[in-house]
Formats: sequence, C-alpha cells, structure tokens
Amino acid sequence: MGRVEGKVVMITGAGSGAGRADALMLAREGAKIIATDQNLETAQATAAEIGEAAIALPLNITKEDEWVAAFAAAREKFGYVDTLVNNAGILIQASIEYMAFEDWQKTLNVNVTGYYLGCKHGVLNMKEKGGNIVNMGSVTSHLGSPNYFAYAAAKSAVVSLTRSVNAHAKTGGYAIRCNALCPDGILTPMVLAQMGLPPDADVEMIKQSPMGHRFCYPEDVANLVLFLVSDESRFISGADIAIDNGNFRFSEF
Ligand SMILES: NC(=O)c1ccc[n+]([C@@H]2O[C@H](COP(=O)([O-])OP(=O)(O)OC[C@H]3O[C@@H](n4cnc5c(N)ncnc54)[C@H](O)[C@@H]3O)[C@@H](O)[C@H]2O)c1
Repeated sequence: MGRVEGKVVMITGAGSGAGRADALMLAREGAKIIATDQNLETAQATAAEIGEAAIALPLNITKEDEWVAAFAAAREKFGYVDTLVNNAGILIQASIEYMAFEDWQKTLNVNVTGYYLGCKHGVLNMKEKGGNIVNMGSVTSHLGSPNYFAYAAAKSAVVSLTRSVNAHAKTGGYAIRCNALCPDGILTPMVLAQMGLPPDADVEMIKQSPMGHRFCYPEDVANLVLFLVSDESRFISGADIAIDNGNFRFSEF
C-alpha cells in the first residue's frame, strides 16, 4: 500500500525538474497522475516513464480555457481529481532598475495568474467531495531579492493565495486543504539555465561547490510534496513550509 494510494493528482509543469520528480514519486507511492505541461511532449515523456497510471495533457497555466479542458479530460479518465500540484513556473533575472515591463508582466502572469487559475479551477472541481492543493512557492516568498525581485513578488503572492484558498475552504465548509512549499535552489533545468549550464549538466559538481549547501535535489522537494499530498498531513492547511537547509533561519549573533 503506497502513501498516496488511489489519489488522483494533477501536476502542472510535470515535464521537467521538480514537477517531473513529483510525478514519479507520487506514482511510485500509488497515485494516478495527470502530467500536464505547456510543452506536451515533455509531459508525455513523464507519463510514459510512469506507465498506465498516468496520462499527459497540454496545459498552459495562464489560459483559463485550457484549465477547463484539462479538468474535464482528467475527470473523464479518472472520475474525480482530488489533488492539484501547482508547480509550473518561470524565472527571469533582472533588478528593479533594469527589468523590462514585459518581463515583469510575464513573470506575474505565469507565477501568479497561473496559480490563481489553478486554485480557482481546483476548488471548483474539488468542492463536491473535498481535495487538496499544493502550491510551489520559493525561499523568495519570504525574502527580498535584488536580482529576482519580480519572481520574489510573485512567489510571495503564491503564499498569500495559499492562505486565502484555505480561508475560503474553511469559511465555505469545503474539505479542501491548501499548502505551499518554499524551497531554496533546486538542481533543475531552471537553476542550471541561470548558471549558463545545459539541462543535463553535472549537478554533483554544483553540490560540491561553495554554493552547494544552497541546492537540493528535485527528490528532496518531491518528498515534501508527497507528505503534503498524503493523508499524513491531513491536519495541515494554509501553511507554507520552508525547504532551505535552514540557511535562512538563524542569526549569527
Ligand atoms: N529550481 C529552483 O531553484 C526553484 C526554487 C524554488 C522554487 N522553484 C519553483 O519550482 C517550480 C518548478 O521549477 P523547476 O525548477 O522544476 O523548473 P523547470 O524549468 O525545470 O520546469 C518548469 C516546467 O514548467 C513548465 N512551464 C513553464 N511555464 C508554463 C506555463 N505557462 N504553463 C505550463 N507549464 C509551464 C515548463 O515547460 C517546465 O516543464 C517553479 O514554480 C519554480 O518557480 C524552483
């Protein structure tokens, strides 16, 4: 019996990095997986790795009609979607002085509007029989950032959205939980790209560098997602949980 046996989990951005790791781990623990991504081929590759317990669907999280279509297709296949992992995201580097207005809008469109749409359609689809939403925040949800300020603003909003979805569920009498996780660096193609490295770069080399203590593996994140998706966390909702090696939780003095 797996830790999430029988759960039906839709994951956004499941074609790469943390989303792919979530999909593989949740499937290993007994969940049915709806692997979605704006890049359908990559979602299909994740679903193919899992086998019969998974399907792949195209989903650009910024398009409301695609959310409606994805939930309809998932419900047709599995009957009910009880869990949504809002994971897809983008990272654009620039300080507040130099970020182009279009890049600010793009960051908020994917990382905030995409999560609003996910939470909206998640709640609409789960309010009948209950469910669970897990949102991908970041260490920057709680920190100022000179070079990723738009990303930080967006990820702060993800934590706020998480609290409000929980508040809505509580006041509306829905058995829906909603939590966020807030990782520091994860060794995924997103972070490798920031370093000018290809998606298949040797991540062990980074782990051994002086910055290595800042980076976890996608599986470290998937372990927390697994806990939040499972009933082991049934008394946790509206929370944001750090996964940062404790690096930002102490004073030197
Ligand atoms: N890598 C890190 O250091 C790190 C740290 C903290 C939080 N995060 C967050 O974790 C999540 C996953 O990031 P990752 O590191 O695995 O990145 P990644 O670039 O490896 O994967 C992101 C996936 O999201 C998809 N995607 C992007 N925009 C999309 C859209 N509009 N609609 C649907 N899919 C879209 C991409 O196609 C890709 O498959 C993101 O929300 C990211 O902000 C990452």
